[in-house]
Amino acid sequence: MSNIQKKAFITGIRGQDGSYLAELLISKGYSVSGVVKPESDKSKSILAGVDYIECDLGDEEKLALLIRELKPDEIYNLAGRHMRGDSTCEDFSINAYSPHILLEAIRQFAPQARFFQAGSSEMFGNAPPPQNEETPFHPVSAYGVSKLSAFHFGRMFRESYGLFVSNGILFNHESPRRGEGFVTRKITLGVAEILAGKRDTISLGNLDAKRDWGYAPEYVEAMWKMLQQPEPDDYVIATGEVHTVKEFVEECFRIGGIDNWEKYVVIDSQYARQSRESVCKGNHTKAKKNLGWEPHVTFNELIRIMLEADRERMGVKLREEK
Ligand code: GDD
Repeated sequence: MSNIQKKAFITGIRGQDGSYLAELLISKGYSVSGVVKPESDKSKSILAGVDYIECDLGDEEKLALLIRELKPDEIYNLAGRHMRGDSTCEDFSINAYSPHILLEAIRQFAPQARFFQAGSSEMFGNAPPPQNEETPFHPVSAYGVSKLSAFHFGRMFRESYGLFVSNGILFNHESPRRGEGFVTRKITLGVAEILAGKRDTISLGNLDAKRDWGYAPEYVEAMWKMLQQPEPDDYVIATGEVHTVKEFVEECFRIGGIDNWEKYVVIDSQYARQSRESVCKGNHTKAKKNLGWEPHVTFNELIRIMLEADRERMGVKLREEK
């Protein structure tokens, strides 16, 4: 790296991906600032060296001012709202339109900046798997539609104004920092609590759902790599391996040393999705070829990492793998 310190600006910096990305960039010598919601809990901003700035992602004026003053070299738009059931117009707008606000500010005040937009496999929706960058999008959820809007804003600013914009089409990626409402963390935390004697069962919506699950720290590495390329482009980031929720459950209980997982899992329809779900399986060939990126953490390793972390939080150790 040259002597000039690069400046990165991250939205969603308190989330799973934002926190891993901030750590990665700090380790690479960047100065890092990140946007946080004005009313959010300040004690959660714990990463040393990060400048946390309060700003609403719908506040066009303030965002433009920030981009104008900071003139970041790299901007990572990771902020997003999960949209399940009772989502609002504001949720949709944060996902779909805030990227436009940021891109417009970049166009005016920092046109040299490189922009990463976090897209989702939900943009593919019903498109037949495996999906790659050539697969036509066919979202079947409001979240998928909102993310697709952001994707197209990115492409539009790249093609119409020559900005450096790369879209990552990210398949599910998990870690010990995953929110407790997501199925993987719900399972690892549940198993850790069962092992610690704090609960008897885990309630899940559906065991047959299939996902392409990767390890989040590897996915933020891919984001960074996208912005180091000579040209901006769009990339699918995925493992290419699909597992069911049931397989995740079985493996997690096995690693935890519990037989008869069926005794501990309750199916509860309140956690099942109302709409039909699509099968996502990503093909990361382009990322491997252009970015030299590929996933290394396997399905079993991912579960072990997550379960180990949840066990540690409870002060109990996992048995050694034979
Ligand atoms: N959350 C949850 N809770 N999901 C369950 C449960 C349950 O009790 N039981 C089964 N599932 C199934 C869901 O129906 C889904 O098929 C799968 O487990 C994964 O659900 P989540 O972990 O909630 O993640 P997601 O796939 O809906 O969304 C995540 O991945 C997307 C990428 O495809 C999020 O990170 C999105 O933001 C992201 O775009």
